[in-house]
Amino acid sequence: MGNKFVYISFIISMFCISNVIAQGDPDAGAQKTQTCSVCHGPNGNSINPMWPKLAGQHPLYTLKQLQNFKSGSRSNPQMTPMVAALSDQDMMDIAAYYASQSPVESQLPSSMENRDVELGEKIYRAGDTTKSMASCMACHGPTATGNPAANFPNLAGQHASYTAAQLQAFKNESRANDTNSVMRDVALKLTNEEIEAVSQYLQGLY
Ligand code: HEC
Ligand code: HEC
Repeated sequence: MGNKFVYISFIISMFCISNVIAQGDPDAGAQKTQTCSVCHGPNGNSINPMWPKLAGQHPLYTLKQLQNFKSGSRSNPQMTPMVAALSDQDMMDIAAYYASQSPVESQLPSSMENRDVELGEKIYRAGDTTKSMASCMACHGPTATGNPAANFPNLAGQHASYTAAQLQAFKNESRANDTNSVMRDVALKLTNEEIEAVSQYLQGLY
């Protein structure tokens, strides 16, 4: 990835972010998320660990995911029908609404209680030089709250089973909507044990 490319993407994302902030109306978004809350919970704080929390996510990331589900570049049998009737304005309002909500902490399921915090933290903060794998922190930030300007999502406090499922999906390429394959390249290098450990480490971060 050349510097020029990074610079241009940065300008484009800044443009998109200012558009989302300017054009997304969180109050209108709240009205449009009544169906969504059946799975994603009140205010985007899903209670069921199979459904992702959306509260506190950066608006441009949420917007991109909704557009990707609509275009088919990201696909899921539960989500795909949910976006069919959404307009661009609906998506911007919804993204603005979830961004304005605060994430709520949830307990790890008891089946995950013997997590290897040290391994998860090491992968997250240092990566693995023996596999030339960048640290997650390099993109998702020291507290895993992401980087809105570069459109790196907030991962802090997300349900571990959802995070692990996404890492597996990037690894087997059933999720391939990451620009320039950034996440697929990382996930390919993770073992199943490392995926579990880093996902559980992330759920504990606030
Ligand atoms: C029947 C349950 C269900 C309903 C209702 C639902 N979703 Fe989802 N949603 C899911 C599932 C399951 C996923 C994870 C998909 C995957 O694994 O790729 C998801 C993922 C998402 C994501 C991606 C999150 C991320 O971190 O990448 C967004 C954004 C989203 N949903 C928004 C919505 C919106 C907006 C609505 C209402 C218009 C909605 N969902 C309704 C089940 C649901
Ligand atoms: C080079 C930058 C980069 C690195 C390094 C990186 N990520 Fe990502 N990650 C991204 C981008 C960009 C996306 C958004 C992809 C998209 O547009 O759907 C993402 C998305 C994700 C998602 C999906 C979030 C969701 O809500 O669905 C997870 C989980 C994730 N990354 C975890 C990790 C972990 C764990 C590591 C370290 C092992 C890591 N990432 C390293 C850039 C990076």
